[in-house]
Amino acid sequence: MEKIELIKPDDWHVHFRDNEILKAVVPETTRHFSRAIVMPNLTPPILTGNDAIEYKKRIENEIPKEDEFLPLMTLYLTENTNKDELKKSYENGLVFAAKLYPAGATTNSEAGVKDIQKIMPILETMSDIGMPLLIHGEVTNQEIDIFDREKKFIDTTLHFICTKLPDLKITVEHITTKEASLYVKEGNRNLVASITPHHLALNRNAIFVGGIKPHNYCLPILKREEHRKALLKVATNGNSKFFLGTDTAPHFISDKESACGCAGIFNATYCIPILAQIFDNENALPQLENFISKNGAKHYNLNINKEKITLIKSSQNLIFKKYLDVNEQKIKIFDPDFLVFWEVAE
Ligand code: NCD
Ligand code: ZN
Repeated sequence: MEKIELIKPDDWHVHFRDNEILKAVVPETTRHFSRAIVMPNLTPPILTGNDAIEYKKRIENEIPKEDEFLPLMTLYLTENTNKDELKKSYENGLVFAAKLYPAGATTNSEAGVKDIQKIMPILETMSDIGMPLLIHGEVTNQEIDIFDREKKFIDTTLHFICTKLPDLKITVEHITTKEASLYVKEGNRNLVASITPHHLALNRNAIFVGGIKPHNYCLPILKREEHRKALLKVATNGNSKFFLGTDTAPHFISDKESACGCAGIFNATYCIPILAQIFDNENALPQLENFISKNGAKHYNLNINKEKITLIKSSQNLIFKKYLDVNEQKIKIFDPDFLVFWEVAE
């Protein structure tokens, strides 16, 4: 039996949804994480500081008594976002960051931004006040192949924003390509990236080989093996510009196993054991704490957590629960295509 103690991790990108799903998924995150940045793509989205505070209260109501957990709230940027209100919401501590969804890029992004020029004054304000910008980095033009949308976004939009506003704190979220990892690595010091466990675990074969696998469908879509390898490399080599954002994104199985299935993978439950196994397989366990517990806090100018977690490796592989029950419905829990011998000691 092997045992390691780590600083308790944070999740820098989570979807908690609302109502019955919120109730079911919040404890799955608070069990292993101290803080999380909460995505604002509800229907309707979180558009104002007041929306964020109301949503935060609904989240806090679902935190189990034994868990200490801080939700960090975000605003959903639109072409109509009022920059003075955004500034006030940030300066009064109602919100932690703002999220840029290109309109149509992913789940509940219809109200997002069509023309980046229209929000440049908002981004300038954010740069001035030090408010972090979180980006879903994919173009949405129908003529661009789905596997090329992240790269295209970097070449057109991200490079433009970084050049115009070098002091803006930017997280390119859930990166999936070698181009993104390279751009962030070599980009300005305020530019960082988050990476999900599923993009470290799987390549695009996991969606298509042996039959179509809707539970491995997420956005940005899984890419070729060479891209997964590039992500693994930056995640495991200790570069502080890269950190965990799980993008845990619950949908009912009835909405995933459908003629037009939803994008999103629910991975909160076994995220830490899966990552420990991935890092172990790469002989990179000494870097795990940087990736899950330190690098993100550093970028966001937050203290690292005081609490610790203990990971234990046994000779028996962990048996995953398959589903999370939500009343009469179910959410599939992410299970990668390999055995996991690590678990978090409760
Ligand atoms: C997310 C969701 O379901 O809200 N889906 C996903 O595939 N990742 C949205 C997102 O982060 O893109
Ligand atoms: Zn997401």
